[in-house]
Amino acid sequence: MAKSSASFVCQSCGASTSKWSGRCESCGEWNTIVEEKPLSAGPASKSLGAARGRAVALTDLASTESPPPRTVSGVAEFDRVLGGGLVPASAVLVGGDPGIGKSTLLLQAAAHFARQGLKTLYVSGEEASAQVRMRAQRLGLADAPVKLAAETNLRDILTTLEEERPGLAIIDSIQTMWADNVDSAPGSVSQVRAAAHELVTFAKRRGMAVILVGHVTKEGQIAGPRVVEHMVDTVLYFEGERGHQFRILRAVKNRFGPADEIGVFEMTGGGLSEVANPSALFLSDREDPAPGATVFAGIEGTRPVLVEFQCLVAPSPLSQPRRSVLGWDGGRLAMILAVLEARCGIPFAGLDVYLNVAGGMRVSEPAADLAVACALLSAREDVAIPRDTVVFGEISLSGALRPVGQTENRLKEAQKLGFTTAIAPARSKAGEKPGLALKSYAGLAGFVGDMFGAG
Ligand code: TYD
Ligand code: MG
Repeated sequence: MAKSSASFVCQSCGASTSKWSGRCESCGEWNTIVEEKPLSAGPASKSLGAARGRAVALTDLASTESPPPRTVSGVAEFDRVLGGGLVPASAVLVGGDPGIGKSTLLLQAAAHFARQGLKTLYVSGEEASAQVRMRAQRLGLADAPVKLAAETNLRDILTTLEEERPGLAIIDSIQTMWADNVDSAPGSVSQVRAAAHELVTFAKRRGMAVILVGHVTKEGQIAGPRVVEHMVDTVLYFEGERGHQFRILRAVKNRFGPADEIGVFEMTGGGLSEVANPSALFLSDREDPAPGATVFAGIEGTRPVLVEFQCLVAPSPLSQPRRSVLGWDGGRLAMILAVLEARCGIPFAGLDVYLNVAGGMRVSEPAADLAVACALLSAREDVAIPRDTVVFGEISLSGALRPVGQTENRLKEAQKLGFTTAIAPARSKAGEKPGLALKSYAGLAGFVGDMFGAG
């Protein structure tokens, strides 16, 4: 390959160009292009092997050392998402929309960790100490031995951490931090990247755990470069609908535990409270069986969670009928509509489709396909699905139903919550469940014919 003359690199996506521009052509981010000078001015052809480096000390993969003990906060939902507690010297990034409750969650976590004897420092770059103290009072945490600082200067924060040597530092938020050796405004990509890098390397070197709060952009990504996600060990997203009281903390990356694990919280006047049994909560305010409502037996991380899909189908005045989805993937909905039309002869042309997951939950499992199809048909045919039925299964493009993982756990949860019928793909591996009848179908057409007398 010819030697590249490019020396301008996008700090967001890593694309390199030969000239500066205000906007990166490859990822569309603004003001992310920075000139990167080569490390040495020497001839580029000189290979690294030419001059000897220092031999690195090697260790064995097999070791008798026991892993360092995790610190458990006592907030079970939070600890589970971390993979069973906070790992010393780990870096955690918590992302979420503004106002979703990140500061509340972390102040509560800080108080719990501090009460467990972990020296905890909470640095707020957004609120004054008095504000944080007032919130703590409202949450009933005023007596927790948490050290507070309201500061944005990274150099001062690092010096403080050096002197205080806490076991855990919480930085709220990484976008407000300002490194004086970087020549751009706080919140800019280079600042965020530099601040995250400094804090994470400090944490690793000093054996301190660090939790960074990150704001999320309109596109739902943590503002600033993706590289921040690579720098940390664990990435958690705090999500939920502002109008709903439920909040879900989801691990999207975890070097110390399973990803996709969730913790469920409820936002109350006294802060976030844990929800130990999310299924019961998500289904608690169900009305009488209405057309378009279907209960899906889902799995989130290691836990079964039952949620309700709600669907409304109405004649559309538009030439392009509306497809409105909340809590589920729009592309996946289009696929299911296409399969229903092509394989079962049920068209949705000329009909508006609204699909919701109740309670502000977000479902991403393909296992929900059959529940979505069931909700769609139930709404379209105006036939209510019996109240005591759960549905799960993946739909393939051919219209076949594919068995999904963890069938046993899904059925157990349904049985526990008093459901009497489960609709699942044929060949699903499951043992007998007293009181729960399993209806299985090999194809979507068979299911449609049986349930709705069409197809
Ligand atoms: P906050 O933690 O400040 O959100 P973030 O840090 O993610 O921006 O939470 C703000 C919202 O939470 C605010 O709209 C009020 C609500 N809230 C409660 O409902 N109860 C409470 O006890 C607290 C502290 C906040
Ligand atoms: Mg906040």
